[in-house]
Amino acid sequence: MRSADQRERPPTGPAEDLSPEELPWIRPSAFESLVKRPIREFLYTPYTKLASRVIARRYASQTQFPVDLWLWGQRGNDYEAHRRRLNRFVRLGNTKILVAGCGAGRDLVSWLPYAPRLVVGVDYLNYERAWNRSIDYLRSRYPRSSVRFLRGNLQNLDAFEDEEFDVIGSDAVLEHVTNFPAVVSEFVRLLRPGGFFYATFGPLWPCWQGDHYSGWDELSNGYNHLVMDQSSYQQYLGSEKREDHPELEEGRMWSKYGLFSYLRAIDYVQTLSDGGLQAQFTGVLIEPRGARCLRQFKGLREKLLAVHKELDLVIAGMTVIYRRHRRGTHRTRCLLARENRSSPVVLACLGSGLVWRVVAVNCVRRQHHPRRSWWGGLRGQSYDPRVCRW
Ligand SMILES: C[S@@+](CC[C@H](N)C(=O)[O-])C[C@H]1O[C@@H](n2cnc3c(N)ncnc32)[C@H](O)[C@@H]1O
Repeated sequence: MRSADQRERPPTGPAEDLSPEELPWIRPSAFESLVKRPIREFLYTPYTKLASRVIARRYASQTQFPVDLWLWGQRGNDYEAHRRRLNRFVRLGNTKILVAGCGAGRDLVSWLPYAPRLVVGVDYLNYERAWNRSIDYLRSRYPRSSVRFLRGNLQNLDAFEDEEFDVIGSDAVLEHVTNFPAVVSEFVRLLRPGGFFYATFGPLWPCWQGDHYSGWDELSNGYNHLVMDQSSYQQYLGSEKREDHPELEEGRMWSKYGLFSYLRAIDYVQTLSDGGLQAQFTGVLIEPRGARCLRQFKGLREKLLAVHKELDLVIAGMTVIYRRHRRGTHRTRCLLARENRSSPVVLACLGSGLVWRVVAVNCVRRQHHPRRSWWGGLRGQSYDPRVCRW
């Protein structure tokens, strides 16, 4: 564990308890459990696979990174589907899971059916009342797992030892972290070698409604956060508290305090790889209203395209699964960093590693992804044979 004085110690949020009155995950409605969830599970899976092929034709040539699944809107973007996918990469039973940015605790309900040994929810804000109520319910419903909640900043989780977790998961958080490289470096410290990192996040800042607010009134206003000057934008946000619409009020709160990463999809991908994680799965969600807005309002489109890439303007969210390098890979990286890169020992190591990747790894990959290039394996794309993708 790094000593405390080696790192800045960012504070947690305000002391006020922000727990909502209702915790719907404690008593899900019969309609949700008996109708909506089965529909999501059985219909959305084939739908998303089919839709992905169609959307890929339109956007795949514009991406700067490999994409395994394209979603059109929120269908198929539910937490249960993400857990099922991750469970195909790593069996979640008997693992130790950190739920990063757990909010009032809703996320934990979708992790616990997999019977992990321990689930720890961490959040920057104070949801003590909701956590206490959730713990009683979760412990009685899932007695095989230990459940804990903790207040903390993802940039600095000193309460945990190095390599303590098998899995780190996060939903709807990374678009709000203000220092993403620091968060990634903390996650890498907390993951055991070979451990998995999963995250779903969005809307991303450059997208339609990327500030969680613009466009709530008119389709054409969805990019106000990108095109308006500061004072017009403040006027658009308004000063009255929006009692009528709690979700909008929350969106306005993120803008008011500047709680955004402001990153594009490629920035997330690059930061995760630079931090020492290896991509296993990347899903991209396209916002249909963003695509429609760009189609309908030509003047706005031109203005935006002068500064942004078209794809960034419509990528509303991402789902990623990354893996921390195993110890061997980590040692090689340290060796490379320490030794003279052109020394015969390093060159021999690199040469044999290269041959191994090209021959062995790609033989496995090509059985499952015959359309992908041999060079994809060298760039660290996934080759996990257990995961069958389109
Ligand atoms: C939109 S909420 C999502 C909450 C929960 N994951 C869910 O899906 O219901 C984002 C959460 O991320 C938390 N968060 C943002 N930045 C954080 C940080 N640096 N450290 C810890 N939590 C953070 C916020 O406090 C907030 O509760």
